[in-house]
Amino acid sequence: MRMPLFRGMKRWGVLLSALLLSSLLLAACGENSPSILNPSGPVASKEAGLFWFILIVATIVFVAVEGLLIYSIVRFRERPNSPAPIQTHGNNTVEIIWTIVPSLFLFVVLIGTIYTMFGLTSFSSSGRPLQIRVVGHQWWWEFDYLNENFVTADELHIPVGTRVEAQLQSNNVIHSFWVPELFGKTDVVPGHNNMSVFQADKVGSYRGQCTEFCGLQHAHMNFYVIVQSQDDYNAWVTSQQQAAAATPTDPNALAGQKLFLGSGGCQGCHGIVGVNLQDYNHLKGGGDATVLVGPNLTHFGSRRQIAGGVLTWDPASCVVISGSDGQPKIQNPGSCGLYQWLHDPQAVKPGNDMHIGTLTDTQIAQLIAYLESLT
Ligand code: CUA
Repeated sequence: MRMPLFRGMKRWGVLLSALLLSSLLLAACGENSPSILNPSGPVASKEAGLFWFILIVATIVFVAVEGLLIYSIVRFRERPNSPAPIQTHGNNTVEIIWTIVPSLFLFVVLIGTIYTMFGLTSFSSSGRPLQIRVVGHQWWWEFDYLNENFVTADELHIPVGTRVEAQLQSNNVIHSFWVPELFGKTDVVPGHNNMSVFQADKVGSYRGQCTEFCGLQHAHMNFYVIVQSQDDYNAWVTSQQQAAAATPTDPNALAGQKLFLGSGGCQGCHGIVGVNLQDYNHLKGGGDATVLVGPNLTHFGSRRQIAGGVLTWDPASCVVISGSDGQPKIQNPGSCGLYQWLHDPQAVKPGNDMHIGTLTDTQIAQLIAYLESLT
């Protein structure tokens, strides 16, 4: 009996169109997500090149195999009174051809991959390489500038066109360090120091993400790489190297500092150089990772990401005003990320290490006034 071929093809056509349309719609959802296909540095460019190379090889194989398959289905479909097809089982020539040809394709992919892998860290740069230590915590990133001698969190500033050599360390579980537009994934393994070498060729802000499941808040372990001109970067480094003011001038900030330093206060987990830390070396405790549980807050006011990128810190959204009782409070707590964090960190990011008692709105406003002063 003859197959209703045309009707079948029409159905497949509809299905294929629906799939293509839905993939277009889904692609639009991710317009704010960083993509490896949008490289902004030599390492990411080489990796994207390898992706396209493998895609082209795979497409040639796909089109050839599926083309032959469809041709065979149509050309050799069953017809009335057609004889049994010729049996080719045990044909050595055919067996050898379909073993060697796919192996050749895989070999081409292997050569391309090895060539890219070994050339990944060879690229031209200006100036001396920047040496940093990246420590994966549960669940935030610490960036230790080894030669400049300061430590920061959640935001990695680098100068444009400079080679960055990042030592990757963890004192807890396995994380993975990835900035899609700058470099591929490298695992951050406790007891085994890995390395990630990269460079950014365009000024801008690049989102990074932990990409190895590391516990409850793995998805909330983001960070940003802020790529600056050499002059802007130098100015930023100079500001980071300075200790915080021992005594803030604003009365609310001063009250916030007292809370920070109070018994059972924030200083049990956080450090501020010039306040409860003599210098950054005290933060490191002479060892690899910091001795403190939480991020150091020495220049917190200059950062824009908090709590591993779950919330943003924007002073304009956290205006401290004087309430009807004369006490300070936050004008619009709903739009202030830092208020939400200090109000209930476990609600924002369940399972994180920040276990604090309930703070009053006045205390939160004082702490925010203090943290804002730490630029
Ligand atoms: Cu750290 Cu996932």
